Amino acid sequence: MSQSTRRGFLSLGVASGALLGALRPSSLLAQAQTVARALGRGVSAYGERSRFETTTRLLRDSRHPEASSSRTPLQDLQGTLTPSPLHFERHHAGIPDIDPSSHRLLIHGLVDRPLELSLAELRRLPAESRIHFLECSGNSGALWREASVAAAHTTRGTAQSTHGLTSSGEWEGVPLSVLLNEAGVRPEGTWLVAEGADASRMTRSVPLTKALDDTFVAYGQNGEALRPAQGYPLRLFVPGWEGNISIKWLRRIEVVDRPYMTREETSKYTDLLPDGRARRFTFVMEAKSVITHPSGGQRLTNPGYHQLRGIAWSGRGRVQRVEISTDGGRSWEVAELQGPVLPRAHTRFRLDWTWDGSEVVVQSRCIDETGYTQPTREELIAARGLRSGYHNNAIQSWKVSPDGTVENIYV
Ligand code: CO
Repeated sequence: MSQSTRRGFLSLGVASGALLGALRPSSLLAQAQTVARALGRGVSAYGERSRFETTTRLLRDSRHPEASSSRTPLQDLQGTLTPSPLHFERHHAGIPDIDPSSHRLLIHGLVDRPLELSLAELRRLPAESRIHFLECSGNSGALWREASVAAAHTTRGTAQSTHGLTSSGEWEGVPLSVLLNEAGVRPEGTWLVAEGADASRMTRSVPLTKALDDTFVAYGQNGEALRPAQGYPLRLFVPGWEGNISIKWLRRIEVVDRPYMTREETSKYTDLLPDGRARRFTFVMEAKSVITHPSGGQRLTNPGYHQLRGIAWSGRGRVQRVEISTDGGRSWEVAELQGPVLPRAHTRFRLDWTWDGSEVVVQSRCIDETGYTQPTREELIAARGLRSGYHNNAIQSWKVSPDGTVENIYV
């Protein structure tokens, strides 16, 4: 049955019995209890969520929280934008406390006119805002290891613990091409080195082609200034590429004639292959998806109607299609995509589903506009071995047991 036909039946009420079977009958008493009898709280200068909403980031158990990570609760989010307080974090030397009035961005190296820009000067320049995901290349890394190691994760994996190092937002700033044009890149300039103002001096090389394409210098996140954990007051934003290269607390861009082989692109952020060679400069986060409902740690209370929901994304452009399997990958059905589908952005997908109460394995796979299809875990291991933790974009499998519990498994 096609999606449009199914929706037609729903609106005609044909499937209403199935839906109502999942709901309690109405109670007049319960309705009366929802009406306040006294004045509520007054207006406030800066908002907060309901005290009944308690979802939080998941902190990595670490003796050094300054060099650690926290993960977005994907299973609890709606739509596609990550609330700024729930955006994942990954820091290497803690969050610096930067006064924007004294912060400067230096653009120098192989340029005709070196620039030193204040925040006020940057905010005067032509701005753009764009919705993009940001994913750490280590996202889902633990799911890649040897089966014996990975077994430890099989019962405790949740969408947050396995996939929570991706988040999304609406970012505003100045296209880097505007700044580089003002500085005047010399013909021999082919790469940039971008440096952060944190204590680790996080440094990455960026090819000039990407810098001039869609890279920007961002000061806004979801309608307000960047959060300190996201680089306040200024970060590089390199759409679709591994999160580490979008340098936070950006203080310096040097135009150079080659990649500088910094620590973060030699000892880290390279992908070790089975034969001992390393893939270097693996920038793009390839097509990926995860079902967030049902997902690990959740429990389906009863058989019948459930909507399968999740997010898909690709660093190469738009999500073209998401397919869902409820039989461990033997057959696939096309999910409905929530528009507008934006390039290099989390895309919400949904599929109406009737769970018959038996054991099932649910999976999603993303196909992006280049035709690339998200691989199975088996295919990924065949191509890249078991020595790497970066760029794991394999299909995620969740097992729903007859008692309704959901857990991470490998198929
Ligand atoms: Co990489």
